[in-house]
Amino acid sequence: MQYRTIGTDPRSQREVSVLSLGAMLFGSKTDEATSYAILDRFVEAGGTFIDTSNNYAFWMDGGQGGQSEELLGRWRRSRGVGAEVVIATKLGGRPLTPGTSFLAGREGLSAKVIRESAERSRERLGVDQLDLLYAHIEDREVPVRETVEGFAELVAEGAVGLLGVSNHRIWRVERARALAAAAGLPGYEVLQYHRSYLPHRLDLPTERDPDGNVGVAGGDLTSYLRSEPGLTLVSYGSLLWGAYTRADKPLGPEYDLPSAPVRRAALREVAEQTGATVNQVVLAWLIGGEIPTIPLVGVSSVAQLEECLGAVDLALTAEQRHRLDTAW
Ligand SMILES: NC(=O)c1ccc[n+]([C@@H]2O[C@H](COP(=O)([O-])OP(=O)(O)OC[C@H]3O[C@@H](n4cnc5c(N)ncnc54)[C@H](OP(=O)(O)O)[C@@H]3O)[C@@H](O)[C@H]2O)c1
Repeated sequence: MQYRTIGTDPRSQREVSVLSLGAMLFGSKTDEATSYAILDRFVEAGGTFIDTSNNYAFWMDGGQGGQSEELLGRWRRSRGVGAEVVIATKLGGRPLTPGTSFLAGREGLSAKVIRESAERSRERLGVDQLDLLYAHIEDREVPVRETVEGFAELVAEGAVGLLGVSNHRIWRVERARALAAAAGLPGYEVLQYHRSYLPHRLDLPTERDPDGNVGVAGGDLTSYLRSEPGLTLVSYGSLLWGAYTRADKPLGPEYDLPSAPVRRAALREVAEQTGATVNQVVLAWLIGGEIPTIPLVGVSSVAQLEECLGAVDLALTAEQRHRLDTAW
């Protein structure tokens, strides 16, 4: 395994594995025994960064989520896992009514929700401190200052280590970070967005957002990261849900760009040269890229995890990286 540092303040920064395990479906779609086997193997291989949320996976059983955090709490206790494993969680996207989509109404990012939901997450995970807590989804109703101060209070009390943000317009991330910096408060240091090797169209409106999918990493995000090298990018959908290699996982129109076949051909070529799989080339491209990215992998079996782990030591040559970067 290889590691990198997240966070900039020596008092709160942490070392994490360059590959992160997504636990979204653990305890719901992925049963307890399989989830434990995946978690055990990840840690055995040196993995120290796990991702969950307080609303995972509400859509599986018509509830409000929490099964993933609860499973991680049971697993931590049964294995005696401590501070060596960083578990990131999120709040803000929990549906208000069981059985509804968060589009119909969600908890949001008020100071009250931040305090109460973080407390519930600590209980489910069985920890005194949440290692990394993300604002999951934008809340345009609550003033940014209230959200910033709400998170900062939890950091000051020791209930949270690091702060992160996901699925927010970059101007709102910058506004929140600027407010925090001006007030001498901790701000978001880890940014979680959808990013993979195949680009996602940015021009398609969604049910949630007329300006396009707010969760997709685009030029605004990468430009922001170039100018703020202390920030860390974590990517979801890194393996496009298996679509690189599986006919049973076709991609939707949001990936229908002229570059897609060109980039798929470049991937196959580099995979052949290296003897690695296409999925491994994608993960290695993300991990070692110009904008280094910690890919989340949401595996549902130990075999899938093994393939992902194999990407960590795949060193792409400068020529191979150039080939991949310039395939448009
Ligand atoms: N911040 C956010 O809004 C957000 C959104 C989504 C996800 N996430 C996080 O990201 C994590 C990753 O999940 P994701 O939804 O982004 O999906 P992903 O990692 O791109 O794909 C997960 C799915 O891909 C398939 N897969 C994984 N490894 C494979 C392999 N080696 N070979 C073939 N197929 C493979 C599996 O499908 P099968 O199970 O069908 O085999 C698996 O369920 C989640 O657990 C969650 O923590 C965050």
